[in-house]
Amino acid sequence: MIAITISELKNVVCKCTKCDLSQTRTNVVFGVGNPNADVLFVGEGPGQNEDMTGIPFVGRGGQLLDKMLDEIGLSRNKNIYIANMVKCRPPNNRDPLPEEIDCCINYLRWQFKLIKPKIIVCVGRIAAIRIIKNDFKVTREHGVWFNKKNIEVMGTFHPAALLRNPNNLPYAKEDLQKLQTKINEIAPQVYN
Ligand code: URA
Ligand code: SF4
Repeated sequence: MIAITISELKNVVCKCTKCDLSQTRTNVVFGVGNPNADVLFVGEGPGQNEDMTGIPFVGRGGQLLDKMLDEIGLSRNKNIYIANMVKCRPPNNRDPLPEEIDCCINYLRWQFKLIKPKIIVCVGRIAAIRIIKNDFKVTREHGVWFNKKNIEVMGTFHPAALLRNPNNLPYAKEDLQKLQTKINEIAPQVYN
């Protein structure tokens, strides 16, 4: 059994120096939300605003994400948890390297084991290629449900990509409608 709480895990991760991203970070961005959430969102890694604050998805993209989640009754303050593939900011917002993800992913696995979500939403390609399948294409497979070890997993557009290309906003909203439907099917307590 895992004899550690999520806040103890956070204390461990906040001291981590396992990869080079530790040398350029300001703050570790561990994750935020309800530690008993049935729905886990997984992004890519911290950007500048997240690095400054230690909180995931707090920039313009994060605000868009929060607004879209609110439209389907989800909030990081209530019924979801939000984490990232890597907990420290890659310099200049580059994609995290596969070896950095390898180094960090056990923390995400640990978060997953403690939170025990029924549903995972991969926010953007970087999370989806690692969690769903290595040839995942967001444009082709967003909003499609995959069952992985009895967890329902979907990938959708990253909010930063939606800000760059708002044409995809209606598709992202459709994905979230599908998420709401799935929650009502397999985890209706989320809305209690
Ligand atoms: N983008 C991400 O993928 N995660 C964050 O926390 C912020 C921006
Ligand atoms: Fe440790 Fe992950 Fe930060 Fe690398 S990105 S230093 S593995 S917490």
